Amino acid sequence: MNEIKIFVPATIANVSCGFDVLGLCLDTVGDEMTIRKTSQKGITISKIIGQDLPLDPTKNVAGVAALALLEKVDIDYGFDIEILKNIKLGSGIGSSAASAAGAVFGINEILGKPFSLEALIPFAMAGEKLASGTAHADNVAPALLGGFTLVRSYQPLDVIKIHTPKELYATVIHPQIEIKTRDARSVVKKQISLETAVKQLGNLGGLISGLYTENYELISNSLHDELVEPYRSILIPEFETIKKASSENGALGSGISGSGPSIFALSKGIENAKKVALGMKEVYRNTGIDFDIHVSKINELGIKVLAFK
Ligand code: HSE
Repeated sequence: MNEIKIFVPATIANVSCGFDVLGLCLDTVGDEMTIRKTSQKGITISKIIGQDLPLDPTKNVAGVAALALLEKVDIDYGFDIEILKNIKLGSGIGSSAASAAGAVFGINEILGKPFSLEALIPFAMAGEKLASGTAHADNVAPALLGGFTLVRSYQPLDVIKIHTPKELYATVIHPQIEIKTRDARSVVKKQISLETAVKQLGNLGGLISGLYTENYELISNSLHDELVEPYRSILIPEFETIKKASSENGALGSGISGSGPSIFALSKGIENAKKVALGMKEVYRNTGIDFDIHVSKINELGIKVLAFK
């Protein structure tokens, strides 16, 4: 294989109660990337369409992730990367993660898959570190593995794929304001009380159990965040109104997608997820803020190969 074209999905990190550890993969929104072998060693980024991003591979998350992978292989050729960026920067649905995960996935495919998907996660995390200052894995892991993923441990890295209930759908509203993950992380409190930790632990355990047993009521009861939502939600216009509307329209729960400003809701069944989307639209219609809305099933596959030669 000399060239591969892939679809790299957007992702929702945290999923309310799993700050920095839980993430899920979306299906209907994502970037397209083309990666091809070059005779010259190293990484080049020849084209980025859709967003204004650096082509210098040492300043670009896709380039940094790709270079981290290349350090571990002994080859006398290199790779060129082209990105069609549909996921907007600072949207909270894993824009940087998609670039980083896509780059290492594509290169690994061309190399004949010397690395497992799990083994690609640390390379992609190097890209996340460039973007936000922290090598969090809760977007790159679901982009690479698909479905829901849990970072059981960062040191050593241990990522687990979690069961996805068949009827679970996500609705995401992206208000067109940019919140940088780096900034959103700076408002989060570094210390929490034991009482807060107990609540969060109960909800995370409940959500994981609910996902495995496909218990939608338990999923609904567990979608709460005590750690970051109270501090970050003030950065997002109409956050509480969107949450209220989602719940009135039958969503199982809702919260900030990653570091925001996107807000997600989970629903049982696509019809309910569409109803939640209409409710969100109604809230945002009169704010004067542009927005996108996506309804998506949970993508259990992750990155998809579109073509290769
Ligand atoms: N867990 C990260 C954060 C995700 O909330 O900062 C960023 O998309």
